[in-house]
Amino acid sequence: MKILIAYYSKTGVTKRLAEKLSSKLGAEIEVLIDKKKRSGILGWIFGGRDGMKKNPTEIGKIKHDPSKYDVVIVGGPLWGFNSVAPAARTFLTQNIDKIRKVAFFMTRGGAKPSTAALLDLKDVSSGKALDDTLDLRESELDSDISREKIEIFAKVIEKIK
Ligand SMILES: Cc1cc2nc3c(=O)[nH]c(=O)nc-3n(C[C@H](O)[C@H](O)[C@H](O)COP(=O)(O)O)c2cc1C
Repeated sequence: MKILIAYYSKTGVTKRLAEKLSSKLGAEIEVLIDKKKRSGILGWIFGGRDGMKKNPTEIGKIKHDPSKYDVVIVGGPLWGFNSVAPAARTFLTQNIDKIRKVAFFMTRGGAKPSTAALLDLKDVSSGKALDDTLDLRESELDSDISREKIEIFAKVIEKIK
């Protein structure tokens, strides 16, 4: 089975989770680039606002063709309480027509999981999204909780025909 992991990461947390998942699943990786300036305090403020408002962004040209994969796993950090970062959401909305099946993973800083953010991605997935998702707090990244969650999520992905 061919798997593509497409992720956006501003500070490296989602990147590390994507790499763990990729080595577990033998998946290829597409790193999503947000062309909008996201650094400094204004980057935080406008990033949070763009997340909250579900504003699209301009992303760099992708290197992998999503239509060549059995499943595409899309991931990013939680931004603005109820959304996954604009670059991941934009990749999804621009490519959903080329995707056969899609699954999601998300990292967050706070203790409170955001089902709203993952449901929002599902809403723009034309019925192609798996119900199972992987949601991890950044402080859990190197913990047993993380290993367990990755294990469970990977098993779900491997069952896709
Ligand atoms: C602009 C911005 C908005 C954020 N909003 C939230 C939020 O609403 N809730 C939360 O738990 N964490 C929030 N965070 C923290 C990130 O979700 C968290 O640190 C994530 O693991 C970072 O992933 P990354 O290193 O891949 O960018 C926000 C971070 C940024 C930069």
